[in-house]
Amino acid sequence: MTRRIPVPPRKLPQVGGRALFEFEDKSLALFNVEGDVFAIDDSCPHQGASLCGGRLEGRVIQCCAHGLRFDLRSGYLLNSSAIKVVNYPVEVIDGQAFILVSEESAP
Ligand code: FES
Repeated sequence: MTRRIPVPPRKLPQVGGRALFEFEDKSLALFNVEGDVFAIDDSCPHQGASLCGGRLEGRVIQCCAHGLRFDLRSGYLLNSSAIKVVNYPVEVIDGQAFILVSEESAP
């Protein structure tokens, strides 16, 4: 099942911007790269540092703590398919953004 979490307009970053968005127990980093909005967990898969304040180049975010770089589109560490930050599809409909969060169905 997939939930659609609405992003309050003030939390939706403008082109070139970023924002921290928290809901329930999640803390997500949102980035707007040339009009495309990306959402990832604000927790580096290496040692959990925040990624929201990292250095952004194109759609690659670099963790401030130890410098690992992740592709915002796939979530994967550059040149690797072994390490991945959790990422979420984002839908924007008439200016309203939704984060799509899939939930495992109960066993
Ligand atoms: S915590 Fe992000 S690179 Fe180490």
